[in-house]
Amino acid sequence: MTGESKQKINRREFIGAAATAGFMIIKPQLVRGTTANSAIRLGLLGCGHRGKGVATSFATNTTARVTALADLFDDQLEEAKNHFDNIAASKGYAGIDRKLMFKGPKAYEEIAGSKEIDMVQISTPGFFHTQHLEAVVTAGKHVYCEKPAGVDVHGAKRILDIGKKAEGRLSLEIGFQIRSAPPYVEWVRRIHAGALGKIACAATYYHATSVNYPPRPNASPMELRIRNFYWDRVLSGDIIVDQSIHVIDICNWILRAHPIKAVGAGGRKVRTDWGNTYDHFNVVLTYPDGIHVSLSHFQAGDALWDVSERFFGAKGVAEAHYSGVVGIYGDEPWEWEGSTSQATSQPGHANMYAIAKGGGAEKSSGVFHDSLQFADAEKDKGFIESITSGKYHNQAGKGVESALSAILGRTASYTGREVTWDELIASDQTYDPEFEEIDLAQL
Ligand SMILES: NC(=O)c1ccc[n+]([C@@H]2O[C@H](COP(=O)([O-])OP(=O)(O)OC[C@H]3O[C@@H](n4cnc5c(N)ncnc54)[C@H](O)[C@@H]3O)[C@@H](O)[C@H]2O)c1
Repeated sequence: MTGESKQKINRREFIGAAATAGFMIIKPQLVRGTTANSAIRLGLLGCGHRGKGVATSFATNTTARVTALADLFDDQLEEAKNHFDNIAASKGYAGIDRKLMFKGPKAYEEIAGSKEIDMVQISTPGFFHTQHLEAVVTAGKHVYCEKPAGVDVHGAKRILDIGKKAEGRLSLEIGFQIRSAPPYVEWVRRIHAGALGKIACAATYYHATSVNYPPRPNASPMELRIRNFYWDRVLSGDIIVDQSIHVIDICNWILRAHPIKAVGAGGRKVRTDWGNTYDHFNVVLTYPDGIHVSLSHFQAGDALWDVSERFFGAKGVAEAHYSGVVGIYGDEPWEWEGSTSQATSQPGHANMYAIAKGGGAEKSSGVFHDSLQFADAEKDKGFIESITSGKYHNQAGKGVESALSAILGRTASYTGREVTWDELIASDQTYDPEFEEIDLAQL
């Protein structure tokens, strides 16, 4: 117990020093030695679906311009260059200079060290986030890193240390855009103000269609793992750490805590594609005060996509869906007005993900009320403002807390026994991808 307690991480360590709002205020003029309203130069590390999506949001909703790209593959770099050159042309500024296109296993270090950028957006597979974040913060660049903040305990704890290095010097954002979605912000504000009274428990789910990839008959096993990383436990963290992490992050946000223990089960019953990730997890997370949160995650097929949380309290029930109602029933009823007034025949945010991956979400789309419609724009605007104002964000702590909460559920499900938070932290679980950085040079 003594050795273990040394390894315990106090919640204040997560969200204390490295809280969301910045504490050090520098003069805006000090941002890259220029005026605050000059464009922030964004380097995109990982030019895939989400990378292009978020960087497009930065380029269209903020003053940021995408000026550098990094990836392991030429086709990804070229497609991204074409995409961002078109945006640049439409806005009347220069496209991406080929000298600022970095390829290969060291591309992350080259883009991090480039003097031609102010921030890096890390949108590579989760396994690489720790290494890539470390390089970017060491190089002194502001950073927007996608979730998860680590796929294993060791990597997540390293991100806490990286966050400490960034504190007061740099803005460090983790990609939980739902915390910036207006309907969710108001929903959580009302719950925190007591609309549910004492909370007893919650039921949550992440029910998603398959992630599909095109066949690559000539690809090496190594290339397949990287290109199809969502099917790889080590590279993605498995579906619970890659996808359910959003739902778990919402639970941590509402309950202002992380789970203290978990039980769970899961398996790979109907997926027949290549890879080793599960197609379902069923987990019960216990939060302080004995609040039980059930999580059901299914990712397969093409029949349904719905992501939701229901919190049950003495005074009412709160419910939210990515596409659908965000509201509260009971003594203090409330519904986000967009739940009924913004109906659209276009697929919602959640479904775009499957469509981009070639999934069949179109089939399940009908009328969508996209609760996440403004999430990326709001998050990106807040991040750029944190840089230009010098009121730096540091979300390393909250990002790591949610990553470890999802890893807790995964570990309980893989082992089939109850796992406590303290035991998990003490385990220093470390994932081995069974390849070295040098092996990525073969791609
Ligand atoms: N916040 C959200 O809602 C959300 C949604 C989707 C994805 N994501 C996250 O975004 C990240 C990327 O997901 P995606 O859907 O864009 O995947 P993707 O496969 O479409 O893109 C990943 C890109 O990274 C490149 N890459 C892989 N390893 C690399 C390395 N070592 N160095 C440089 N480049 C490398 C790939 O070639 C590819 O271009 C993941 O962490 C995922 O969890 C977040």
